[in-house]
Amino acid sequence: MPKNKPPKKTGQKKRDFAGQKMSGGVSKQPARTWKKPEKQAGEADMRMMDERVKTARGRKISSTLWLRRQLNDPYVKKARALGYRSRAAFKLIELDEKFGLLKKGAVIVDLGAAPGSWTQIALKAKPSRLIGIDILPVESFPGAEIIEMDFMDENAPNVLMKMLAGDHGMMHPDLVMSDLAANTTGHRQTDHLRTVALVEAAADFAVQVLKPGGAFISKVFQGGAELNLLNMLNEKFDTVRHAKPKASRDGSPEMYLVAKGFRGDNKAP
Ligand SMILES: C[S@@+](CC[C@H](N)C(=O)[O-])C[C@H]1O[C@@H](n2cnc3c(N)ncnc32)[C@H](O)[C@@H]1O
Repeated sequence: MPKNKPPKKTGQKKRDFAGQKMSGGVSKQPARTWKKPEKQAGEADMRMMDERVKTARGRKISSTLWLRRQLNDPYVKKARALGYRSRAAFKLIELDEKFGLLKKGAVIVDLGAAPGSWTQIALKAKPSRLIGIDILPVESFPGAEIIEMDFMDENAPNVLMKMLAGDHGMMHPDLVMSDLAANTTGHRQTDHLRTVALVEAAADFAVQVLKPGGAFISKVFQGGAELNLLNMLNEKFDTVRHAKPKASRDGSPEMYLVAKGFRGDNKAP
């Protein structure tokens, strides 16, 4: 069993082990809604979709602008047309095309899985196991096991590891992928610290569980990973790169860290 470092404490309310829920379970929070498209739209349909948002009384200008951008975003339209739960699908597709991350038969962990488009893309590669976690409920998929739990809860790494433990010992993942992103508060420094904490927790988890040769990808903000984190990853992986997929919005500080060739020797317990 790999050593389980104590998680970093956050101000978030903690839930105990019993508080976890599998996706599809009964939840007080509504699952992030996703509707199957009524028909598969073609390119022509998509061009016709340029939509203007009617100004509703009481809607803030920022919300109207967000809605307009959302309705006219080609990736949103394409995701809808292809039945993906969000435009984030295209970020993973691009990262996979560039770095060759998704492999048939692999064991994959998806951190920050809701609403589920990375899970959808990863499932296409026919992994042997795909487990995920999100603080929000995710409508279930055949072939994926997703729990509803705060990843910053000190029990979360153990819960995920227990899920990975099979009859013949721990199944170390080939890929830990994190698209975790905290809701922004508008307070720049608070948002930055919360994001850094999520990335560090994801990286700590990855180095505790990955199989030798495995890969870790993570959303990072503001010019890339923090220096300490980068140094740690450079020690533990053969290659560490930053990438900004085209599907990542221009002007967004978001980018992705891609670490490949895990050098650790996590062994089955
Ligand atoms: C950008 S979204 C992920 C999108 C997802 N990759 C997809 O393709 O559908 C970021 C997710 O991180 C989740 N998240 C943020 N903080 C979290 C935490 N502490 N524990 C678990 N999930 C968290 C959010 O609920 C949100 O669903």
